[in-house]
Parts: sequence; structure tokens; C-alpha cells
Amino acid sequence: MNKIISSALNWRYATKLFNPDKKVSNSDLNALLEATRLAPSSLGLQPWKAFVISNKEVRQKLKAAAWNQPQVSDASHLVIFTTLKRVTETYIDSYLNKVLEIRNQKKEDVEGYKKMLLGGTVGKSSDEMKAWTARQTYIALGFLLETAALMKIDACPMEGFDTAQFDKILGIDASEYTTVVMAAVGYRNDDDKYATVPKVRFCKEELFIQI
Ligand SMILES: Cc1cc2nc3c(=O)[nH]c(=O)nc-3n(C[C@H](O)[C@H](O)[C@H](O)COP(=O)(O)O)c2cc1C
Repeated sequence: MNKIISSALNWRYATKLFNPDKKVSNSDLNALLEATRLAPSSLGLQPWKAFVISNKEVRQKLKAAAWNQPQVSDASHLVIFTTLKRVTETYIDSYLNKVLEIRNQKKEDVEGYKKMLLGGTVGKSSDEMKAWTARQTYIALGFLLETAALMKIDACPMEGFDTAQFDKILGIDASEYTTVVMAAVGYRNDDDKYATVPKVRFCKEELFIQI
């Protein structure tokens, strides 16, 4: 593997203890968010939004709803990913308006595309929809994590929280979005023993079937 990538991916780990005094600069944070924004998604629909949280009081409330995990209060920022509970025709139209604007196209040009987007989404059951929107969101999370590693910014992906409480704290409980996953980002605390434990991964022969 390319040395820069391999050393970054071996350097990264799911950071448990962050240095609460070390903050990610605005320009680095923007670079992380831009990498996240550039993540691909099925049909291009990007059915997610993320809250970027530095506010201490909000983070104390979130921490209580996340089994008191220290990352929630001590990381520099939390990026909390929420997904659309249901992709609707209205949402598809708002996406298509963006397509028309950016690609300088006319409504008629995207009629077939709209049919395809509707066909691929609105008929899903609510379980299928939930799984589908979450999958798109996790790709964005992956982009954030890898970019953070390449930038030597620590991160911890986190699902260990109460979704209903998070939705309430973020004020989205009555909205079309719900929380799915977050990343705490910042810089590791020197006392974090997890930084040096060997990684446990299946070997490539176990993971990849070459045909
Ligand atoms: C989707 C997801 C959710 C996770 N949730 C948590 C969490 O809530 N708290 C935590 O400390 N680690 C969490 N982890 C970290 C994993 O435990 C960790 O990535 C895994 O053990 C591999 O270790 P490494 O990332 O240090 O290589 C999560 C990881 C992922 C990908």
C-alpha cells in the first residue's frame, strides 16, 4: 500500500481519550467537512445532514445520552450524522433542482432521471428505507474518518448513544431526520492506552475472495 496511506491508517484508532485542550483549527475542520461532503451516495441523493457541535453545554447533555463516554465532552468537535427517515418526492425534487442549477439543465432533461430516482426510493418499506439511508450516511462517515487519519486528526466513530434522546437534544425529534452515528474529532490524550494496542483485523485471505 502507498506508504502515506498505510501509515495514516495504522496510526488512526478509535480514540477513547481526547485532549480537551487541543482544538481542530477552523481550516482543518473545513477540510474534514469538505471531504465528507464529497462522499458518494446511491443515486446521488445524499439523504443526510450533520450537526457539527463544539458547544460545551450541548455536549454535556449529549454525553449523558451516550453512556457518559468521555469523547463526547472532550473531543474538539462532534460531527453527528442524521439521516432522512424517508426519501419523498419533495426531497427528490429539491435534489433535482440542484442538478438543474449546477449542470445548467432544463426540467425536461431530467424527467427520466426523476422516474428512476422515484423508482429506486419511495416504494421502499420503512425498514428498507432506514437501512438504505443509513448506508449512504456511513459512507460519508468513512470519508471523514479516512481524511482525518490522513490529516493526523484523531477520531472516534460512535454509535453508542440513545437515538431518541439525541434527536430531542438536537431538536429534530419532530423532523424528517433522525440521528444515526457520530464522529468525535480532535487530538488524542497521551494517556489513552488504546493508541498502542495492536489492531485486530482478519487477514486479507480471510476477507477477500479472489476469483
Ligand atoms: C459505526 C461504529 C460505531 C462505533 N461506536 C463506538 C462507540 O460508541 N464508542 C467507542 O468507544 N467506540 C466505538 N466504535 C469504535 C470501534 O470499537 C473500533 O473502531 C473497533 O474496535 C476497531 O478499532 P480501531 O478503530 O481502533 O482500529 C465504533 C466504530 C464504528 C465503525
